[in-house]
Amino acid sequence: MRTPIIAGNWKMHNTIAEATSLVEALTKAGNKNQAEIIVAPSYTALAVAAHTAKGSEIKIAAQDVHWEDKGAFTSAVSPVQVKDAGATHTIIGHSERRSIFGDTDEILNKKVAAALRHGLTVIFCVGETLAEREANKTLAVIEGQLANGLKGFTAEQLKGLIIAYEPVWAIGTGKTATPEQAQEVHAAIRAYLAKTYDDAFAQETRILYGGSVKDTNVDEIMAKEDVDGALVGGQSLIAEKFARIINFN
Ligand code: PGA
Repeated sequence: MRTPIIAGNWKMHNTIAEATSLVEALTKAGNKNQAEIIVAPSYTALAVAAHTAKGSEIKIAAQDVHWEDKGAFTSAVSPVQVKDAGATHTIIGHSERRSIFGDTDEILNKKVAAALRHGLTVIFCVGETLAEREANKTLAVIEGQLANGLKGFTAEQLKGLIIAYEPVWAIGTGKTATPEQAQEVHAAIRAYLAKTYDDAFAQETRILYGGSVKDTNVDEIMAKEDVDGALVGGQSLIAEKFARIINFN
């Protein structure tokens, strides 16, 4: 009932030429589950990726946006600019943004507002560190990230929102959450959405798992009831691997 989403977060990888050939390869990858396919290139390759994807099912996401439309914010890129380059989606709150660049809940809330103002679909990332998991704080941390990051918006305004659960300890480490661990958190996120907004919103919101998703583990993760898709880093850079992930069983 919820259309699956397979999204690739390229992070700081791929030149314009590499982005072009990767998107070209993905247009020929097939899509047996009729998933929504999204790739998130660097800003420098957004326009060329969008151009190459034209006429295909592939959608383009920015990896982040600034909270203002324009102004004196050296190096930042606004929602207006990423839309102009062809993005329909934007990731917000990736753990690398939170931990390396200092994006706080308050900043992320402003970014969500900016993206929604311009009709960009938000892929909002949440996830706990290993220390938080070991201290049994996983669900509290995630609820806090959702409450603060999405503060001030109604279900109606958030319609179409995509949530990505990415345990920080699983990102780029090769350590994947077990399907059971993913399911437990996804179900808790859905329960939180039902409690905070309403049941319809909880049922329609897609919740992606991210953190060392591979061609070899995607099937078992996608088999879980509340896992509606995957946000893939490393393996989204390799056409054959990402094609296999798109065509999960
Ligand atoms: P990974 O990254 O698949 O390389 O672990 C996932 C992400 O950070 O979105």
